[in-house]
Amino acid sequence: MTADSDRGPLDLVGESDLSCARDEMATCLGVDPHESDLFEIRFNSPQVAAAAKPGKFAQILVSDGQVPLLRRPFSFSRADPASGVVAFYLRAVGEGSGRLRRFEPGARARILGPLGRGFTLPSAPGRSVLLAGGLGAAPFPLLIERLLAQGEEVVWINGARDRAEIYPERLLPSGIAQVVIRTEDGSLGEQGLVTDGLIERLPGTQRLYACGPNAMLAALAKLWRELQAQEGTLPPLEVSIEAPMGCGFGTCLGCAIPLWDREGQQPGPYGLCCRQGPVLSAEQLDWGRLLQQPAHLG
Ligand SMILES: Cc1cc2nc3c(=O)[nH]c(=O)nc-3n(C[C@H](O)[C@H](O)[C@H](O)COP(=O)(O)OP(=O)(O)OC[C@H]3O[C@@H](n4cnc5c(N)ncnc54)[C@H](O)[C@@H]3O)c2cc1C
Ligand code: FES
Repeated sequence: MTADSDRGPLDLVGESDLSCARDEMATCLGVDPHESDLFEIRFNSPQVAAAAKPGKFAQILVSDGQVPLLRRPFSFSRADPASGVVAFYLRAVGEGSGRLRRFEPGARARILGPLGRGFTLPSAPGRSVLLAGGLGAAPFPLLIERLLAQGEEVVWINGARDRAEIYPERLLPSGIAQVVIRTEDGSLGEQGLVTDGLIERLPGTQRLYACGPNAMLAALAKLWRELQAQEGTLPPLEVSIEAPMGCGFGTCLGCAIPLWDREGQQPGPYGLCCRQGPVLSAEQLDWGRLLQQPAHLG
């Protein structure tokens, strides 16, 4: 098995390291509601918090009954090994997230994680630009915290349809060099799209990280490829994508994602979002086929 840190630009064989995953009964510490059915939920889950990494996710068993039967995947939004606290940033869209929204302090849920492959942290300090579309902000507080801890200059670009969908600034770690807020309707920050003006930010940037709806990520990947053709070289772009998930660790084969071939020349095999992803290099994905897949239930 290839370790998480061994991700090459077109390394299609890298898979998540399941040896650090723990299945722990966690206790809810509280729910912090935001606008637009968004909320943050915090759990005491010391073993999972100790192993969580930015971009990885947990499978949460929300109920001890049969509904919902399957665990639900959610990215780690924050994780503090010292206090044993993990937090998730969610929108109540269905049975699982709806139940979590109604959790009271003391309620319990099984948390399995960390799962999947996370973001690659730079080996030396520089500048990283993070682009989040709407709920795609969820995995970034933990990434920002770990980047800042190793001396990285962080540029945070958060775009959404309107102000209610913007990640609350009070929850962001302090020390971010630049915060850019964009809303499509202009109700908060600049009016525009999360990708607007990206080219001006590229000189001196060593890494790009993005998470959001697949259509936004596909548009970003297209822009990045076009800029790469013009500029010759660009900072690597890592994206966190979603697919419907049953197990979260490679057995149900429910989370197939279309990949580009190893040479980067043509459509390649399908991979599993839960093992090769959810974070991948932008050039590893076959964006055309990904957008043709039935819309995921999220
Ligand atoms: C790696 C990963 C990380 C994720 N991280 C986050 C995160 O940090 N925060 C977050 O909020 N979400 C996240 N998601 C998405 C989340 O896992 C899904 O939205 C999940 O399905 C929610 O579970 P649920 O039980 O609340 O909703 P579900 O019951 O699964 O329903 C989800 C959506 O699908 C619709 N739906 C359900 N059944 C059907 C059907 N039969 N036909 C049509 N539509 C249907 C529902 O109305 C709803 O809109 C992540 C997903 C992945 C794969
Ligand atoms: S979710 Fe089961 S194989 Fe990926």
